[in-house]
Amino acid sequence: MLGFLGGTGPEGKGLALRLALAGEDVWIGSRELPRAVTAAETVSALAPGASVSGALNVQVALKADVVFVTVPYQAQRQVLEEVRDELVGKVVIDVVAPVAIRKGVALAVPVVSGSAALEAQAILCE
Ligand SMILES: NC(=O)c1ccc[n+]([C@@H]2O[C@H](COP(=O)([O-])OP(=O)(O)OC[C@H]3O[C@@H](n4cnc5c(N)ncnc54)[C@H](OP(=O)(O)O)[C@@H]3O)[C@@H](O)[C@H]2O)c1
Repeated sequence: MLGFLGGTGPEGKGLALRLALAGEDVWIGSRELPRAVTAAETVSALAPGASVSGALNVQVALKADVVFVTVPYQAQRQVLEEVRDELVGKVVIDVVAPVAIRKGVALAVPVVSGSAALEAQAILCE
């Protein structure tokens, strides 16, 4: 079972759709249940017969064996701290790209740890 923390955005829904089409059981997470359910319905409509559900981030972290982090960099720490206990022993795939938008242009944000993924690993191991 695959879970997507903050899976209601374009990145989470895009990955969830493709993995659902590949036959995976996917759960889309959100801070708000209605947003998760709506996103799951959107993905389901594009993948008839696929297994796509929506739930709160913490429930997704609990259910899933493999968890994708698909939130903006600025939200990563808070989201991971909220589900740290649920992620113990799980595979976590972090697709977070630390960027800031300036005048419509995406600029890389330097991360002290070296990358958002390394920072996520450190947060989960604190
Ligand atoms: N690696 C790559 O090639 C690649 C490509 C594209 C994007 N990305 C990265 O993927 C991530 C997701 O991109 P996206 O465009 O889908 O992002 P997004 O739409 O801005 O955000 C995704 C979801 O994150 C949750 N979220 C937003 N702000 C939050 C906050 N302050 N606290 C907790 N949750 C929050 C929201 O879900 P709810 O409101 O439903 O909780 C939102 O729907 C970003 O880090 C982006 O840089 C990576």
